[in-house]
Amino acid sequence: MNASDIRKAYLDYFAARGHKVVSSASLLPENDPTTLFTGSGMQPMVPYLLGETHPEGTRIADSQKCFRSGDIEEVGDNRHTTFFEMLGNWSLGDYFKKEQVGWMFEFLTKELKIDPSRLYVTVFRGNDAIGIPKDDETVGYWQEAFSSVGVDAKAIDHSDSYGMNGGRIFYYPEKKNWWSRSGTPDKMPVGEPGGPDTEMFWDFGVERGLHEASAFVSLPCHVNCDCGRFVEIGNNVFMQYIKTDSTLKENTGNLVIKRNDGFHRLSKRNVDFGGGLERLAMAVNDDPDIFKISLFDGARALIEKVTGKTYGANAAETYAFRVALDHLRAATFLIADGVVPSNKDQGYFVRRLVRRAIRFAHKLGANDAFCGSVVSAYVETYRDAYPELGAKMEFVVGEIVKEEAKFKASLEKGLKEFEKIFAKSSVVSGIDAFNLYQSYGFPWELTEELAREKGQVVDRDAFQGEFKKHQDLSRAGSEQKFTGGLADHSAAVVRLHTATHMLHQALRTVLGDHVFQRGSNITAERARFDFSHPDKLTPEQIQRVEDIVNENVRRALPVHFEILELDEAKRRGAIGVFEDKYASLGGKIKVYFIGNEATGDYYSREVCGGPHVENTKELGTFRIAKEEAVAAGIRRIKATLDDQLSNP
Ligand code: ALA
Repeated sequence: MNASDIRKAYLDYFAARGHKVVSSASLLPENDPTTLFTGSGMQPMVPYLLGETHPEGTRIADSQKCFRSGDIEEVGDNRHTTFFEMLGNWSLGDYFKKEQVGWMFEFLTKELKIDPSRLYVTVFRGNDAIGIPKDDETVGYWQEAFSSVGVDAKAIDHSDSYGMNGGRIFYYPEKKNWWSRSGTPDKMPVGEPGGPDTEMFWDFGVERGLHEASAFVSLPCHVNCDCGRFVEIGNNVFMQYIKTDSTLKENTGNLVIKRNDGFHRLSKRNVDFGGGLERLAMAVNDDPDIFKISLFDGARALIEKVTGKTYGANAAETYAFRVALDHLRAATFLIADGVVPSNKDQGYFVRRLVRRAIRFAHKLGANDAFCGSVVSAYVETYRDAYPELGAKMEFVVGEIVKEEAKFKASLEKGLKEFEKIFAKSSVVSGIDAFNLYQSYGFPWELTEELAREKGQVVDRDAFQGEFKKHQDLSRAGSEQKFTGGLADHSAAVVRLHTATHMLHQALRTVLGDHVFQRGSNITAERARFDFSHPDKLTPEQIQRVEDIVNENVRRALPVHFEILELDEAKRRGAIGVFEDKYASLGGKIKVYFIGNEATGDYYSREVCGGPHVENTKELGTFRIAKEEAVAAGIRRIKATLDDQLSNP
């Protein structure tokens, strides 16, 4: 079965069980100002999950186009893509756990013929503090399903220290087995729906040695490990709760009950299933490379033809192939939904995708125009499932060809100019970056990436300053795309922001004062922090950095800011980017202090626009998930926060 067969089999399977199959909604969300793109299958379904009547009934299925702009720079490994299709089925107050688990198991093992002995599942461990029970009911249905095909399905509580431990079903806490658009229960705003979930994983097999070859080798492997041995192929969310104020009427009576859990049952119990089509195809192929699935065949062959290279020959070329394949596919779908390349809003992402794809294809040796043919190949691959692509083929190809011509005309000149700048001085100034942008159409990220390849950084604030002089940036959203700073001010992002300051300081303590921030990007899931340091960190150094941060979390240090004169800030030992425009207020700058104001015993002092938490105890446990090189002399750390504060 190829990916198109899987999509069809899924929709047919659910249609045969009373589901109305609806078309994918646009990649541009309607009536939803909270997000630029549709990033999950349930997004267009939110009003119905909250109780509105769906015109097509209580059983709905679809294959939804999704785009996650935050993953642009993750593309290049064997499993990240910016665009993907999410297969979805919904029960809007209709069937519930028993049917969903039974159907999923049957669909995977009978329709897709997936080997059940390589299938694993996770369920919600429960949490008394929020009044949501352990999901033993779902475990029972899984055990029934596995036993029907003679597979032993031991259910055990997951612990980081013991790995698989002979289990097939694992209980995890809300960090893994709770789903809402905003993440774990504590991060959900009032009015947001969510619930416990049960996820399904395919095992690529221990014998491939993926875990041993990964950065996680020192930890026991488990289904949620990031080593690549397991891939999540679907998530069944039992969307049953809504985040509330703590005082609410129970829906069965008029009695006002004080609730401490902050949750209320929705009037109906819903199922929200989402499964990445591409990942299901990886499992059916039993190949951990997502770019080998059939949906990329046509485009991959064309890139091979135009570059004279074969996909998979070596790591650097494979990376470049993947970037070009992913980005042009995403651009195809985005343009078909009406987003043309531009310097504004969503259009900016399309421009970035197309230009990045061209640059990487260039590296592979593509000299002639090729985007039009690759895009046409994608249209052919997808036109049956997404008729809008066929209908808009001319428009989509036309826009891509135009953008390619525009960029190619200036790319070579721009690269020469870049080399000239670089030869003159080892630093690319913000003004140089702006000139590259204005004269040669180099998106900011391209200049930054080129500089990074040479081990240099570009002065982003100066670039922004220049940019501001020339552009009207008053429109919402534009500014955010250039800051690379806080994506939003949600609690999760703010907590990670404070954690980033603490990480910065801990790195300086452990490694030395040559450590400076070179870049930072924070999403609700993780903080990414680039800093100057010549060598790979040892496991001991990583551990020490983590320990120092966590120790200061445990100390429950207050956080406050002061507006200071530049000199005063420097005198008081503040570190950071003194030109930070978000921190500068009428010639003065804002400095955040972490530590005791009364005694002046500060753990961290850093120039910053904020916002931050009020006390480090709000952070939970800090963990370094990854440490890697981004360029000569620059390292990158990805870090997360666990909700619970660990004991020392
Ligand atoms: N809404 C769930 C998800 O996106 C199914 O994972």
